[in-house]
Amino acid sequence: MSPVVVLVGPPGSGKSTIAALLAERLKTTHRDTDTDIEAGAGKPISDIFVDEGEPHFRALERSAIVAALQSDGEVLSLGGGAILDPDTRADLAGHNVVFLDVSLGEAAKRVGLGVARPLLLGNVRTQLRNLMEARRPLYDEVAKLTVLTDDKTPEQIADEIQEQL
Ligand code: S3P
Repeated sequence: MSPVVVLVGPPGSGKSTIAALLAERLKTTHRDTDTDIEAGAGKPISDIFVDEGEPHFRALERSAIVAALQSDGEVLSLGGGAILDPDTRADLAGHNVVFLDVSLGEAAKRVGLGVARPLLLGNVRTQLRNLMEARRPLYDEVAKLTVLTDDKTPEQIADEIQEQL
């Protein structure tokens, strides 16, 4: 029992979009652990962070990943920080994990941190850069395939994944 593919990558890498497209093409379901966590908690992830703190969210995320990896034949997308947990990285070893890579500029644009207001958004953009740099080796560690998503349509990215997995 295993998901057909597991998508990892930073916020703004397109995990949800690509997972939904792949699921449609493969005539299967798309499961997203962030969505599972929100359904279980009955509130958005941003509220879980504010109300209970990040460690609590990471514990919920770990349980959601353990459950989701038991599923069979689904396309699975994980939250950007899922790979921070060493147990999760170990669990991903036997799976078809795809790292959706993205440049800082493109990721920032996709999550709404464009260049328009550098004074207001510069700091958040720096945080995103630090987070992406710190996590890159962890994405590399779990990935069977890495796809650079800059300048590609969702269709082209899905084609690449289907050709290479
Ligand atoms: C997080 C990314 C989010 C979500 C949570 C934490 C992270 O998912 O899991 O806000 O640590 O990078 P996306 O990567 O889908 O934005």
